[in-house]
Amino acid sequence: MSARRLADLDAARLDGQRVVVRADLNVPLADGAVADDTRIRASLPTIRFLREHGARVVLLSHLGRPKGAPDPRYSLRPVARALEAQLGIPVTFLADPTSDAAAAEVRHLPRGGVALGENTRFYPGEEANDPALADRFAALGDLFVNDAFGTAHRAHASTEAIAHRLKPAVSGFLLERELRFLGEAIEQPARPFVAILGGAKISGKIDLIEALLPKVDRILIGGAMACTFFKAMGLEVGRSLVEDDRVEMAARLLAAAGDKLMLPTGAMVGDRLAGDATTREVARDAIPADMAMYDIDQASVARFTEVITAARTVIWNGPMGVFETPPFDRGTMGVARALAAATAAGAITIVGGGDSAAAIAAGGLDDQVSHVSTGGGASLEFLEGKPLPGVQALDSR
Ligand code: 3PG
Repeated sequence: MSARRLADLDAARLDGQRVVVRADLNVPLADGAVADDTRIRASLPTIRFLREHGARVVLLSHLGRPKGAPDPRYSLRPVARALEAQLGIPVTFLADPTSDAAAAEVRHLPRGGVALGENTRFYPGEEANDPALADRFAALGDLFVNDAFGTAHRAHASTEAIAHRLKPAVSGFLLERELRFLGEAIEQPARPFVAILGGAKISGKIDLIEALLPKVDRILIGGAMACTFFKAMGLEVGRSLVEDDRVEMAARLLAAAGDKLMLPTGAMVGDRLAGDATTREVARDAIPADMAMYDIDQASVARFTEVITAARTVIWNGPMGVFETPPFDRGTMGVARALAAATAAGAITIVGGGDSAAAIAAGGLDDQVSHVSTGGGASLEFLEGKPLPGVQALDSR
């Protein structure tokens, strides 16, 4: 999947051009303000580069899932304010990026100026990949840069159809970096290559486990999804979260994986999911019937740490426990520390977006791994080997 890159263009020719940049500015909001600006900061290198070369930058993004109609709860206005703070310049807000007025406003941007269009998902044609809507978005620019890795698995008007209309259509620096890190890990990993998978549900990770099994040297499993494997092994899982309809699948995966798949040997169980719950560590074959597993135990953290710190390539997707509710964060933080140690020892370490990215940031270790992906679903689909429509639609290299 090799897309033409922003860096492949003659930068001198960007001067005065209107560049539509599809970014993933889908950030969490709280009380009308941006609560976590990670994705905004990740988009800055492309924006700054274009500004420095005299381009007029027109940003498009979705935010949340507003169902094809305007909904003030999902307005990008707070993101415009956060961008202004980051860039130190006014950002023109295009209340209706499909209007003639918006196209006119963009023409009046100064060289190096920045505009942000309102949520692309306020239009029903966005998720339908509607050519007419893509034409409207394309009318805002002279060329197209897709930097929205987090949305690259969606074939939407502002990610896919637009790339066929606005040429050149190239990847921005963030998208390029994501594809490089994830692509190299999956295609030419330094070995041992270890994947750590966690999270609540095995159902969302089956394709990933199947895709990774032939490629990795080890898969470490944590999170509640370990319980579905425990059940497949005939163990008592108490009140733990189990996907009963996936137990057979888990048994098949266990048989196919042999000793490549490493499960926790023990669990941290609690009588309920709360900071003041009664907790204890038990072996995986001793989970009490009236308790639930909310984390892996420290012995498993130690075993996992040994494997992780001996690896040369590590990818991590999904927490080991309910890390948002301490003390059930100890397994996840232990794995985060092991990743930092592996990085310090020279391994390439990649954290898939979503919960594991939030966990490593909460532990203050996000700058001690090689790459934290901004994509949740997108990084999963990429690692599963699925084509990303937002990348495929770009010019090829
Ligand atoms: C994400 O947060 O994973 C991306 O912004 C994509 O959002 P979506 O799952 O609503 O398409």
